[in-house]
Amino acid sequence: MHQSLSRVYCLIATALALVLLGASLNYAQPQQSASAVGQYVGSEACQTCHEEMFNQFKKTPHYVTLTKKDYKPEQQGCESCHGPGSAHVEAGGGAGTIASFKTMSSKQRAETCLKCHAKQDERINFKHSEHQISQVSCDACHSSHTPKFAANLLREETTTLCFSCHGEIRNSFALPFRHKVMEGVLSCTDCHNQHGGFNAQKRLVGTDQSCFKCHTDKQGPFTFEHMAVRIEGCTYCHSPHGSNNPRLLTRNRVQSLCLECHSGAGRLPAGDETPSFHNLATARFQNCTTCHTQIHGSNLNVLFFEQEAPV
Ligand code: HEC
Ligand code: HEC
Ligand code: HEC
Ligand code: HEC
Ligand code: HEC
Ligand code: HEC
Ligand code: HEC
Ligand code: HEC
Ligand code: HEC
Ligand code: HEC
Repeated sequence: MHQSLSRVYCLIATALALVLLGASLNYAQPQQSASAVGQYVGSEACQTCHEEMFNQFKKTPHYVTLTKKDYKPEQQGCESCHGPGSAHVEAGGGAGTIASFKTMSSKQRAETCLKCHAKQDERINFKHSEHQISQVSCDACHSSHTPKFAANLLREETTTLCFSCHGEIRNSFALPFRHKVMEGVLSCTDCHNQHGGFNAQKRLVGTDQSCFKCHTDKQGPFTFEHMAVRIEGCTYCHSPHGSNNPRLLTRNRVQSLCLECHSGAGRLPAGDETPSFHNLATARFQNCTTCHTQIHGSNLNVLFFEQEAPV
């Protein structure tokens, strides 16, 4: 720990010295990261010693930084991630003379990738995500050199990847009622944004917004909203991953769910109780949603009936 810290300080000091030198000589230095020391020598130089790695690299989407003319020296090939290589090449290779992901902090690793990948979308907010905060950086999920799955450079197929750290939730996808993630109908990343984001729809933790992508009919706006949906959200009544209860409900009987709020002892003020003519001892009244069918909200009926009161 001490060693790598002092190395960082040493690099910062060297970088600072270079900046000062550049300023005093009035050089127009290209923008470099804190750890970038030396000159860019081009990836052909790397190829001479790291032949196999170079050949692998050719198969990845990043190779485009060498074939297209759009990229500046600091954005090309090997050095786009490992920084300028002149010192390393002059030393004839070896550890400690070029930026290595083994010694970079998780923040530095993310910053290296975000130099190019922060532009089009919200990945810039990765910094504030639970993943980055917990030191889970880009390279935990992506492999730049030897991805197991070429698509998205993933180390594993998405579900396997997520379960490799979140194994404790695997059981919920084996329950009788579940979102069919294991069956490949939908993916963890349909509801979660592993990269984080500002937008409610893109937060790491699933939100109601993510549900509306598929269950559009539940979004409203409705003339008559059910305040439970708006205030408590979908997960008060549904377990998003899986459940022992039909419709992914959090309770085994619909009425238990409703009565948590709509009863004398419930969470609502007097006046919103289930009316007394509802004889809860009879089968007729027990399944609330046979009459109050539009339980997520309605444009027709304040009591969420299909149309007019059915009694
Ligand atoms: C003269 C041969 C040579 C050249 C040229 C060369 N390397 Fe290396 N490189 C080595 C050797 C030897 C090692 C140490 C053994 C290893 O890790 O493979 C090494 C290690 C590395 C490491 C790991 C460093 C560490 O601290 O663990 C990286 C990253 C690397 N090289 C990248 C590059 C890049 C990028 C280029 C082109 C700019 C390049 N190399 C050019 C020989 C070379
Ligand atoms: C897109 C970013 C990126 C590019 C481009 C890239 N690397 Fe790497 N490199 C990494 C990451 C990340 C690792 C850490 C291991 C891993 O995640 O697979 C790594 C690991 C290495 C290692 C092993 C030592 C170490 O630091 O772990 C060497 C050597 C290396 N790279 C050389 C090269 C060479 C040579 C090229 C060009 C042919 C290249 N890299 C291009 C990101 C990159
Ligand atoms: C927790 C795992 C994880 C982490 C950490 C992670 N990613 Fe991803 N990333 C994925 C998965 C899974 C996909 C596949 C697409 C999907 O399902 O959304 C992906 C897709 C991508 C894509 C291609 C598709 C797109 O969204 O444009 C890019 C580029 C990307 N990630 C870059 C990054 C960068 C840069 C970082 C770090 C700042 C990072 N990722 C961190 C898991 C991760
Ligand atoms: C010099 C700029 C640059 C850097 C630095 C960079 N990338 Fe990329 N990345 C690209 C380009 C260009 C592409 C290919 C075009 C595209 O898909 O946008 C790409 C594509 C990807 C993809 C999508 C692959 C696919 O199948 O569509 C992933 C994932 C990715 N990069 C992850 C990373 C990670 C992780 C790092 C850091 C270790 C990183 N990139 C560093 C420029 C960069
Ligand atoms: C390398 C390990 C690792 C991988 C792979 C990983 N995660 Fe995480 N994830 C974590 C850690 C550590 C946290 C921090 C909170 C915690 O301990 O659960 C976290 C947090 C989360 C959270 C927030 C949990 C909360 O309680 O706020 C979600 C959601 C999440 N990850 C989803 C995913 C998804 C989806 C994938 C696959 C694309 C994935 N993770 C892959 C390690 C990982
Ligand atoms: C249908 C949408 C959906 C899918 C698919 C989904 N999640 Fe979730 N997930 C959520 C929601 C919503 C929450 C928040 C639960 C809450 O607030 O009670 C959550 C919570 C989590 C948490 C936080 C811990 C917990 O159990 O509350 C983790 C970790 C997580 N999900 C990982 C995953 C992984 C890994 C996958 C894929 C195997 C996945 N999720 C698939 C919607 C989903
Ligand atoms: C990517 C699309 C998608 C997303 C996002 C999604 N769902 Fe689903 N959901 C489905 C599909 C498809 C089914 C049907 C499952 C089946 O038949 O196996 C389903 C089924 C359900 C069911 C059970 C319906 C029944 O008839 O048993 C509930 C409840 C549900 N989803 C709630 C949610 C909630 C809450 C969220 C947000 C946390 C959400 N869904 C996000 C696609 C999605
Ligand atoms: C107050 C509790 C409650 C809340 C909050 C709630 N639901 Fe439901 N939901 C139910 C009940 C009860 C059923 C079963 C209705 C039935 O038996 O016909 C259901 C059924 C469903 C179904 C399957 C049947 C259908 O109508 O398509 C889906 C999908 C669904 N809910 C999605 C959602 C989504 C998305 C949210 C958040 C916007 C949400 N629910 C919020 C109670 C709730
Ligand atoms: C989390 C608490 C909560 C749950 C659970 C809940 N509701 Fe509600 N419900 C409310 C609130 C709050 C209102 C609005 C009360 C008001 O406007 O005075 C409401 C309104 C209603 C109304 C409209 C009449 C009125 O009192 O305004 C009906 C009918 C209703 N709910 C039925 C149900 C049924 C059936 C269920 C079970 C599927 C259920 N609710 C579950 C909180 C809940
Ligand atoms: C057989 C049909 C039927 C069933 C089943 C049913 N209700 Fe009702 N519900 C009604 C009718 C009819 C009204 C009131 C009509 C009126 O006042 O004009 C009503 C009104 C309500 C109200 C509104 C009270 C108010 O005036 O603010 C609530 C809350 C309610 N029901 C909850 C429930 C709950 C909880 C269940 C399940 C335990 C349930 N209902 C089952 C028919 C039904």
